[in-house]
Amino acid sequence: MNDANSPTVSKPLLRALRGEPLDTPPIWLMRQAGRYLPEYRALRKEAGSFLDLCMTPEMACEVTLQPIRRFGFDGAILFSDILVIPYALGQKLWFEEGAGPKLEALQGPEEIAVRLSRDSLHERLAPVYETLRRVRDSLPPETTLLGFAGAPWTVASYMIEGGSSKDFATAKKWMFGDPEGFGRLIDLLVDSTAAYLNAQIEAGAEAVQIFDSWAGSLPAVEQYRWSLEPIRQIVELVKAQHPETPVIVFPRGAGPVYVDFAQHSGGDALGIDTALPLDWARRSLKQGVTLQGNLDPIRVVAGGEGMRAAARRIVETMRGSPFVFNLGHGVVPQTPPEHVGELVETIRGMAQR
Ligand code: CP3
Repeated sequence: MNDANSPTVSKPLLRALRGEPLDTPPIWLMRQAGRYLPEYRALRKEAGSFLDLCMTPEMACEVTLQPIRRFGFDGAILFSDILVIPYALGQKLWFEEGAGPKLEALQGPEEIAVRLSRDSLHERLAPVYETLRRVRDSLPPETTLLGFAGAPWTVASYMIEGGSSKDFATAKKWMFGDPEGFGRLIDLLVDSTAAYLNAQIEAGAEAVQIFDSWAGSLPAVEQYRWSLEPIRQIVELVKAQHPETPVIVFPRGAGPVYVDFAQHSGGDALGIDTALPLDWARRSLKQGVTLQGNLDPIRVVAGGEGMRAAARRIVETMRGSPFVFNLGHGVVPQTPPEHVGELVETIRGMAQR
């Protein structure tokens, strides 16, 4: 299926993720679907709740395709959320307008076995798999379909804090105070997340990204144990089933530990956050790992020549190495859609210069 002549291999994003340097890097953006698009806001209103939007394949498929139609990105990322895993394990999840995600917080390790269960994981996530099948059928032939999941630490932090957090004090207190109990939650997440990603690939995802958005909130020692190690296990479980499917690892804020993510996570590509110098990453991270990133999302809010120059600098820095153009974190709601169009034109226009 993945031989050199198959149409799959000519997709630019897949080629770059498999280690090929391209003259014009493929481009997609984290959070490319969402509130900055008026067509998203219209459908979001119709859907009622955000979770209903994620779990209604017809609508989730439409939202996935909106940025592809507008900007012709090389990658279409499944429209869903990292928190559907706690939801599928049985934890109550809701999204409050302006307040972000809310969950009924886990009070301690003794609640893991009582409140969470893997039994209906795939049943509750079936709408997500159906969304992937629908998107795969409607994508332009050159566009790659990306699946995703949150990494265990980031997802666990929401499950323990009951939502977003500034300092992760409750989750860290549990981690430091009862590493064995905390480890049971992480193990459950490793197992469920790997099963979820494997099922996404079977439903049509051609590459997957693991988001550890809060890796940088951990001291280095804990980054190894609770971010890198669980991610390594997930990659191993995914590769055991789907050795050809590229995995992108995004340990946001990992600093120098990025070196170890490149060496030991088993990922094919690494998402580089806004803080890491890209030329350092190019020189210092394992050869052969594709890099992805790292334009500051606020550059796209500001737009103009500043944005274009920063984007060109990134492409020039990475010329000759396997690279995927992206942001260092997600598109923010206040981003003018026209700026995103100009960004895509800038990258694609560089080939002719
Ligand atoms: O990238 C995409 O376009 C695909 C969709 C996607 C969403 N969330 C949709 C979403 C992806 C890949 C995510 C990942 C996600 N979700 C992460 C990791 C990436 C990151 O940004 O760090 C995290 C930490 C979450 C958890 C989450 N979901 C938060 C903190 C919030 C509230 C903040 C916000 O932006 O509203 C959400 C809600 C959410 N997820 C929205 C969207 C479009 C907004 C909800 C709405 O429309 O009301």
